[in-house]
Amino acid sequence: MEYSYSVVPIPTSPLLQAHVDKYASLRLLALRTNPECFFSTQDEEGRFSREQWRGRIDTDDRVTLIAVASRMLADSSPESSSSSSFANPSVSLDSLDGEAAEWVGLITVLTPEFLKERRDNIPPKFQKYAMCFGEPANVLVSMWVHPEHRCKGIGGRLISEAIDWVLKKRTMRTMNFDVSNGRLGGAVVLEVVKGNTGAGMLYRAMGFETIDSDDASIWMGKRLDT
Ligand SMILES: CC(C)(COP(=O)(O)OP(=O)(O)OC[C@H]1O[C@@H](n2cnc3c(N)ncnc32)[C@H](O)[C@@H]1OP(=O)(O)O)[C@@H](O)C(=O)NCCC(=O)NCCS
Repeated sequence: MEYSYSVVPIPTSPLLQAHVDKYASLRLLALRTNPECFFSTQDEEGRFSREQWRGRIDTDDRVTLIAVASRMLADSSPESSSSSSFANPSVSLDSLDGEAAEWVGLITVLTPEFLKERRDNIPPKFQKYAMCFGEPANVLVSMWVHPEHRCKGIGGRLISEAIDWVLKKRTMRTMNFDVSNGRLGGAVVLEVVKGNTGAGMLYRAMGFETIDSDDASIWMGKRLDT
């Protein structure tokens, strides 16, 4: 089967219940398929109410990006001899709900505003890395790609689209504008369970470096210099 892939943020205005339900199913599938890669569990999140799932994505200070796989007819594209391709971003929005579209991967970005606002309700480790390289950090969480669609560049694409989203969001506000040297600050950080070498290799290849570690996990960060 040949697929065309897109990475699309779940729209929040308005947020459709159908998207909340598909997001919840995908996240639970990730926790069920790769429990060793996450600190949350399927038991814990399986008890979430519809409102809790909705609350996960119904805010402006975080975003969840979905990797969508659309089945292609054998002769529908000049690239039909290859096993996969990425769709033109201009057609991405349509692909979230297309008839042949499957949600096969996700990543969530928690912005500096999110971390500041919910300072008292989030795990202390998120507060610890709310600054990285002396810059306000965006924390990337929940990264997962369905096993049948791995090693096709989707994980890398989720990270680069998440970073693009952060850069766009950053230019829309002036909060982090450092007038003294005329540059915009910022960083992205993420946590990898120790032993998850595959994910670690991907992050390293994408310019992340280790910033801290303990018995359970490694924290990696990337400065956003532009
Ligand atoms: C990590 C993950 C998101 C990567 O997704 P992906 O779509 O396969 O990633 P890409 O195709 O963009 O990149 C693949 C690269 O990642 C690395 N990689 C991923 N899994 C690997 C594994 N099991 N062993 C070795 N390298 C691996 C390699 O560097 C590989 O590069 P290559 O294709 O040149 O060999 C996916 O394997 C996954 O969902 N794993 C389980 C959940 C998880 O670990 N989430 C991350 C939590 S921090």
